[in-house]
Amino acid sequence: MGEETGIINDPEKARFLVPRRVFTDHAVFEKEYEAIFNRCWLYLGHASELTAPGSFLTRTVSRRPILFTRDKDGEYNALFNACPHRGAMVCRERHGKSRAFMCMYHGWTFGSTGNLMSLPGQAGYAEGFKQDPQKQMVHVPRLDRRGDFFFISFNKDVEPLDEYLAEAGDYLDLVSEHSDTGMAVIGGTQEYSIRGNWKLLTENSFDGYHAACTHSTYLDYLKNANGALGATPLEGAGIDLGNGHAVIEYTAPWGRPVASWVPLWGEEGKVEIDKIYREVEARLGKQRAERLARMNRNMVIFPNLVVNDIMAITIRTFFPTAPDSMDVNAWTLAPREESEWLRKYRLFNFTEFLGPGGFATPDDVEAIEKCQRGYAANANNMYNDISKGMVRADAPSFDDEAQMRSFWIEWDRRLAMAEA
Ligand code: FES
Ligand SMILES: [Fe+2]
Repeated sequence: MGEETGIINDPEKARFLVPRRVFTDHAVFEKEYEAIFNRCWLYLGHASELTAPGSFLTRTVSRRPILFTRDKDGEYNALFNACPHRGAMVCRERHGKSRAFMCMYHGWTFGSTGNLMSLPGQAGYAEGFKQDPQKQMVHVPRLDRRGDFFFISFNKDVEPLDEYLAEAGDYLDLVSEHSDTGMAVIGGTQEYSIRGNWKLLTENSFDGYHAACTHSTYLDYLKNANGALGATPLEGAGIDLGNGHAVIEYTAPWGRPVASWVPLWGEEGKVEIDKIYREVEARLGKQRAERLARMNRNMVIFPNLVVNDIMAITIRTFFPTAPDSMDVNAWTLAPREESEWLRKYRLFNFTEFLGPGGFATPDDVEAIEKCQRGYAANANNMYNDISKGMVRADAPSFDDEAQMRSFWIEWDRRLAMAEA
């Protein structure tokens, strides 16, 4: 593969090797911004986070401050959150409702579409100054949505979003179909940092191989928490979704609010889970309902959007701040309407496993940070092994590493393309 990145992909010998340098090298880190984050579609937010005209949120995407608004017509706008006057961040709130954003520096005030509404001391400016296109807040070159998932791109020539998402688009649809009432982000944003390279979290997010080892405490705990584990075995497949996106889709013994029952939820719970299942089946048909309700999915949409639909649903993005550190944002997604007890179990499932203080995330963070520290040993000469399952390339298991190879092949291709 790309001489530049040094990845070795040798299907004949069933070997896939990633040089550790790509996790430590400053030049690679900068090249990733240029070749990947500045060119791909990147996740911005979920429609449920901007419920009404006038609502807004601010977020950092690929090192840029973004103001995401809904204007008075209900349309969505992604603006660079930087004042056309002297560049100060215009909106300093995390989220809220407002039709006007006043820059704190000199008081220029903008509407939800970024239009300059007013400025102090207008008499000091030439006629027509306020209407000058250069005095308006700047829109991010591209904004599009797949269902309720909004994406932006800083590359105006990027391919259409649906084309970019390839087969991953249908998986986003599937996660939106859990409820006929729609899905919503609940409980705000979780933010944390990891002292590790961002690609380690990409790999970890759909690594079906590590759970039994890294998360043995969680599995032991469930075994001992009367009825929290059903009899369903852990088994499934790794699936390439095109363009570097991939998913592992598998059955598992834990409960899913939509809709796999475990004895812990009691007989009453069973009645409700069955009812939910029947509704999903009537709406989507038997096959899709079976997948939606019984299968778990850990998906990565290239380069850094994770949607894990497991014992709860998490959306996660992360951007590198240096070769050995990243900032992570995570949200939980749930049906808009759900009974109180089921919502309670969902949130419990989420914080218990996926949250930053749960059983999984701290262990994953530790594994990632330990890898990063390990690379200090001899990063220049050593390779990570990503070859598990290459010997059964046509039917990769969920605990193989085919999904990671899909990511790496695209990562390599994009870096080589930027080089050319
Ligand atoms: S920098 Fe915003 S008004 Fe001057
Ligand atoms: Fe994990």
